[in-house]
Amino acid sequence: MHNTRDSFGSKFGAIAALAGSAVGLGNIWKFPYEAGNNGGGAFLLVYIFFTVAIGLPVMLSEFALGRYSGRNAFGTFDRLEPKTPWRYFGILVLLAATMILSFYGTVAGWTLEYVVKSLSFSFHSSADIDLNNLFDDFISNPYKPVFWQIIFMVLTGFIVLAGVKKGIERYTKLMMPLLFILIVILGIRACTLDGAMEGIKFLFLPKFSELTSQGVLSALGQAFFSLSIGMGVLLTYASYIKKSENLTSISLQVICADTLIAVLAGVAIFPAVFAFNIAPNSGPGLVFLTLPQVFQSMAFGQLWAILFFVLLTMAALTSSISLLEVIVAFFVEEKHISRRKATIISTVIVTVFGILCTLSFGPLKDIQIGSRSIFGIFDFISSNILLPVGGILISIYVGWRFDRRLLIAELTNDGQLKLWLIKPLVFVLKYVAPLFILVILLHSLGVF
Ligand code: PHE
Repeated sequence: MHNTRDSFGSKFGAIAALAGSAVGLGNIWKFPYEAGNNGGGAFLLVYIFFTVAIGLPVMLSEFALGRYSGRNAFGTFDRLEPKTPWRYFGILVLLAATMILSFYGTVAGWTLEYVVKSLSFSFHSSADIDLNNLFDDFISNPYKPVFWQIIFMVLTGFIVLAGVKKGIERYTKLMMPLLFILIVILGIRACTLDGAMEGIKFLFLPKFSELTSQGVLSALGQAFFSLSIGMGVLLTYASYIKKSENLTSISLQVICADTLIAVLAGVAIFPAVFAFNIAPNSGPGLVFLTLPQVFQSMAFGQLWAILFFVLLTMAALTSSISLLEVIVAFFVEEKHISRRKATIISTVIVTVFGILCTLSFGPLKDIQIGSRSIFGIFDFISSNILLPVGGILISIYVGWRFDRRLLIAELTNDGQLKLWLIKPLVFVLKYVAPLFILVILLHSLGVF
């Protein structure tokens, strides 16, 4: 249909790009602190349950829709449903991508600063550095974090500008395997620290008494956020997957990679949390407070620190490009402007919102809505409201409205592959996923 469109060159390239989108700050920065805030092991269990029971079906739906339509998220619904309110789904998608990328850029900027801090030896001698102060001073500075956020957004823009195969695929293929190896090494080092066992117990022994209903919602939001689902990112990427690839096998590989890296990040971080007496519920600063201590305790610590923060930045980049691509693909395909112009416009819009998020740790700290900062609001609305709502809508759409034969054709490559799970898949999409997500969402909003 759309032969002139760019596409992924190989299956490995497609998986690297999709896993690159899924694996990011969500796994290494967000998962550990969410787990730390919500009882550790209990959170992990609920998170894995949501990933498999709801994440997988929604991911397959996005894949099928995107590859079938061969268009960006907005255009997909605009074409499939030109006369019904479904076409407005695209607006939700654009809003969610903009909001997520805004606060994502803040944290990615912090990682860049930490690359420089490790280059300049800041974590070298354990004696006289207070990592808490170091972190707090930096994030509340009015200029530095903004500077790094702009640099990060420019990098994101550059890769997206280069296109799907020559930009996105090329860089993710290189960065993902490296990241994996490094996180395994850090996990091993953290586990051999004195007192590491406490951290492992915290992560793997569930204490359900510490899991609140808000925690259950966070686990669902985290599953969606971490898998990049519910907002058209995977739909857009799926539109670049060749018709001959097996979507089910790709989705299983992406889910395994994503969950594995989140668990490994937990294994690298919680032993250090307990070994160095850091509060597991320290919030967004957790990874920036714990891992530098691990580096200090390692031979060649500086080298590991540099490697880690460079790779964390890369993990963030492979995700941020997928978010930017959603917005850019919209401008290019729906508004018919050049990729160059589209990338510049989208990057500028997101950066402006992003700077507000960044400054909410410093000069804009006092702007609070219901005890949440601007950063907190962006995170809460996008991860805990827009992504679940997106998940409900995609499930309902594919479960009830999308032509079943088309769904089966996409998932079986026109009958060439066997598909044993179509019945349970449709059942989950029709009833389980929408109801489950809705109940949790309404509960978290205080409706009952
Ligand atoms: N999944 C990414 C991460 O874990 C973040 C992301 C969310 C990317 C939604 C795209 C869409 O960091």
